[in-house]
Amino acid sequence: MQTIRDLAALREAVAVFRAAGERVALVPTMGALHAGHMALFEEAKRVADRVVVSIFVNPRQFGAGEDLDRYPRREGADARMLAEAACDVLWMPAVDVMYPAGYATNVSVAGVSETLDGAARPGHFDGVATVVTKLFNQVRPDVALFGNKDFQQLTVIRRLVADLDFGIEIIGVPTQRDDDGLALSSRNLYLSDEDRARAVALPRALGVAARAIARGDDPREALAAAEASLLSAGFDSVDYVAMVDAETLAEMPEANRRRRLLAAARIGGTRLIDTIPVEAGEQG
Ligand code: PAJ
Repeated sequence: MQTIRDLAALREAVAVFRAAGERVALVPTMGALHAGHMALFEEAKRVADRVVVSIFVNPRQFGAGEDLDRYPRREGADARMLAEAACDVLWMPAVDVMYPAGYATNVSVAGVSETLDGAARPGHFDGVATVVTKLFNQVRPDVALFGNKDFQQLTVIRRLVADLDFGIEIIGVPTQRDDDGLALSSRNLYLSDEDRARAVALPRALGVAARAIARGDDPREALAAAEASLLSAGFDSVDYVAMVDAETLAEMPEANRRRRLLAAARIGGTRLIDTIPVEAGEQG
């Protein structure tokens, strides 16, 4: 595996792949890699000849007072994991490589960025859209892979790619979970043992609500019940529990649409998100 921190070297490495006619995949991450990230990587290996994984903790997508400073950084362990998995390139730019002095451009996707996490975390999706645009231009992959777990992020990126004619195939990968059902997340590292045990209420509440809605219960009541069960299970607050259209993210879609539940809630100072399709048989 080549570990690259310099843009010219990255372009050279990718040019070698291209000259050989190889299909290149990009898996963007912020590191502290877990089996969720590795599921994206394995899918990337299936669909492409070469895989570039990026690790960059992107300051522009963290709000004031968020966890940028304490976000887990595990470069050594991450690099070992990727090398063992036969990753081709680890792209690990420093902040001043990504955003040199004088950097001034922002990429903003209207509409799908504005609700849910976009409302709870102002500027967050501008930061994501900006860094993903830069990663796409740096690597110029044929295909890029993102997790369904960050479903609004995936939707924002699909919109971005369509609107700006990137011509990159975007693949959404099902959410990987711990044995008890909690979605894997780098932020799970923040949880105390007690809060980790309580956090399983999040996937459980979504599962109960999805099944209730799928069998015809009133969605508003099901969502309210999910919120109440999170609070009684020990979550400190709930940012939202919402049902959205899986394509447009419009809230409260009709039953003939593909519907998903999305939730964000806080426990012990940690903000967790999760999502589940309403209809059984849809990708998790
Ligand atoms: P990060 O949180 O590191 O996640 C990187 C990718 O892994 C995202 O596409 C995310 O959806 C996916 N992922 C995380 N947990 C997952 C799980 N349990 N199952 C499946 N996929 C999972 O998301 C980001 O970084 C950043 O916003 C980024 C896109 C890299 C831009 O900075």
